[in-house]
Amino acid sequence: MTPTIGIIGLGYVGLPLAVAFAQADCEVIAVDVDARKIESIGAGESYIEDVPGEVLQGVAGRIHATTRYARLERADAVLICVPTPLTSNREPDLGPLLHSVGALAEVLQAGQLVVLESTTYPGTTRERVAPLLEESGLQAGRDFHLAFSPERVDPGRTDFTLRNTPKVLGGLTPACTERARAIYEIVCDEIVTVSSPEAAELTKLLENIFRSVNIALVNELAILTDRMGIDIWEVVDAAATKPYGFMRFEPGPGMGGHCLPVDPFYLSWRAREFDMATEFIELAGKVNQQMPYHCVAKVQRALNATGLSVKGARIGVIGVSYKPGVGDTRGSPALKILHLLRELGADVNYHDPHVASLPEMALDSRPLLELLGDADLTLIVTAHPNVDHDLVAQRSRLLVDLRGVTRSSGVADVVRL
Ligand SMILES: NC(=O)c1ccc[n+]([C@@H]2O[C@H](COP(=O)([O-])OP(=O)(O)OC[C@H]3O[C@@H](n4cnc5c(N)ncnc54)[C@H](O)[C@@H]3O)[C@@H](O)[C@H]2O)c1
Repeated sequence: MTPTIGIIGLGYVGLPLAVAFAQADCEVIAVDVDARKIESIGAGESYIEDVPGEVLQGVAGRIHATTRYARLERADAVLICVPTPLTSNREPDLGPLLHSVGALAEVLQAGQLVVLESTTYPGTTRERVAPLLEESGLQAGRDFHLAFSPERVDPGRTDFTLRNTPKVLGGLTPACTERARAIYEIVCDEIVTVSSPEAAELTKLLENIFRSVNIALVNELAILTDRMGIDIWEVVDAAATKPYGFMRFEPGPGMGGHCLPVDPFYLSWRAREFDMATEFIELAGKVNQQMPYHCVAKVQRALNATGLSVKGARIGVIGVSYKPGVGDTRGSPALKILHLLRELGADVNYHDPHVASLPEMALDSRPLLELLGDADLTLIVTAHPNVDHDLVAQRSRLLVDLRGVTRSSGVADVVRL
């Protein structure tokens, strides 16, 4: 018999997971505190780009979306996918996680499996989640199973999905690991087990820190090559011809999204308890946070070279989400750049086929040709695959390309990162 799966937190991680289990014929009890999301799921309307409405409608009968935790009593396994943000002091904010675990403890049943999927520091599952669940009177590892399994979803990606991306998993006990393995095997082809929840927690952080540090490295070089008059894109292309020992990372306007600007700091915070300063993490964060300022300085210089100032200039930004092919603007460097340019007195507008409006900037996406026609300077911040960047290069009065996507456009006088 297929198990009943409970999922807490129906965002970018939780909703695709709920759909995957429902597609595998499991009954899914999907819990979120956001009543609008529950209504949308009930109406078969997806709010996550990676989950088409038809797909959600196709499994509607098997996903029972609710705000009531009590419904989870019937689940064989409960997977927790709530946010793990930072506080304004850049410390882990476990508020949503502890709230959800506390609510789950009130309805926890003997024999259930609980898996935390939210990214967090090593020790969270054992030291924070287990004791809170044990307030139910049940003991972790004896009366219920507990494990950590990080989510590896890459929004917008279609070649690697939940099904063919190996899933790392570490249980509190070997029995917890095996129980969780049996559940995840329903939706994943390959399960990679590690010896503890801590090892699984740190695996996820290593993956994200690896990206953050390497992006910072190439970004720092981009600032240097700007001064040296060397083309960073040419250098990255050439280095990437080495068949071993080099991995390509693209320079750009900085890091965005929910993960890379946030997750590494969960580890640096935890490391302080062990008298350790994780300097790579801090340095990478510092370099990447500087990038929007560097990009704005490039815009300033480009305008200056044509006798214009930023103040009063009409600047059209192309692409405001944090990465190509998605509409997610969380932590997007484009927002920082728009904000900095506006502070300097620029008249900013944008075009993004994935982001209809930016309420925080009181802006709506403008049609591409209209934007190009009006702008003194066009700035490519995020290069969506469905935008014709050659056309952007041909129709811009002055173009700053922060993604190197106009190199083959044949237009000579483009300013690049
Ligand atoms: N988005 C990604 O690409 C990605 C990739 C890998 C890992 N992660 C990690 O997965 C976790 C979830 O990320 P996300 O992007 O899906 O977040 P999200 O903000 O898109 O979704 C989280 C959901 O949890 C709900 N929620 C908050 N508190 C709750 C509570 N107490 N009870 C029930 N529901 C609650 C929110 O309403 C929201 O719908 C985070 O730890 C994140 O770091 C995200």
